Amino acid sequence: MLSIRTLALSLMSLGLVVGQTTEPCPPVPTLDLGAGVPPNPAHIPEGCSDYEILVARGTGEPNAPGGKFGVIVGDPVVTNTTLQLPGARGYPVQYPASIDTTGVSQGSADVVSRIRRQALRCPRQTFSLVGYSQGAAVMHAAAGDIPRYLYPRIKSLVMFGDGYNRLGFLGRFPTGLNDKARQVCAPGDPICDPDAGNCTYWHLVYVRPDYINPVVDFIVEGFTGN
Ligand SMILES: *[C@@H]1O[C@H](CO)[C@@H](O)[C@H](O)[C@H]1NC(C)=O
Ligand SMILES: *[C@@H]1O[C@H](CO)[C@@H](O)[C@H](O)[C@H]1NC(C)=O
Repeated sequence: MLSIRTLALSLMSLGLVVGQTTEPCPPVPTLDLGAGVPPNPAHIPEGCSDYEILVARGTGEPNAPGGKFGVIVGDPVVTNTTLQLPGARGYPVQYPASIDTTGVSQGSADVVSRIRRQALRCPRQTFSLVGYSQGAAVMHAAAGDIPRYLYPRIKSLVMFGDGYNRLGFLGRFPTGLNDKARQVCAPGDPICDPDAGNCTYWHLVYVRPDYINPVVDFIVEGFTGN
């Protein structure tokens, strides 16, 4: 677990050096991905907010120090969106992000019920859906089950390292959501880039500001309409 955190931090510092190139494959430190990250109901925000970012983390992705959403994608996205938009907050999708991926349907059901309940309780609340790796699969599954009347409440969807991205047309979100969706796929990421090799390193680079910052702007624009 600690090794991913160390990796994420070292990727941030490496970002300037390695740029976007996909060759050669930088060494990936040993990843302890088996344990998964259990859901933590203590991190569920109460009441209403203007804007809520639902984050489904990647497999085994631990939190940043003091974070709740995942060190590579969720924590920096939520932290920086909140800086720009104080009415925003994050919701950590309650699913076990374990390597056997059995939690996808559980995560999907959690996303759908969270949006349904919050939409009812909080007439002004709008949502952004963020998924990374296995978390992107959670969001695809959820999108198929979200009732259409709730689509106007969903202002953006952002997927990082999304395996569905390799499927082209078949990997799109339903009509009415897909035009609000953005795919973030690092060149060479073997999970999402159809032309990639087998270098896992490129699946772990999303923590870098050049990936996070444009997404933060996209989410803020989705919420505020400008
Ligand atoms: C990755 O691909 C390279 C080049 O095709 C190959 O030499 C290497 O053995 C592969 N590594 C793994 C872990 O599959
Ligand atoms: C987040 O915001 C800080 C402060 O504005 C900025 O330095 C940083 O590059 C941003 N992005 C990430 C990924 O931390």
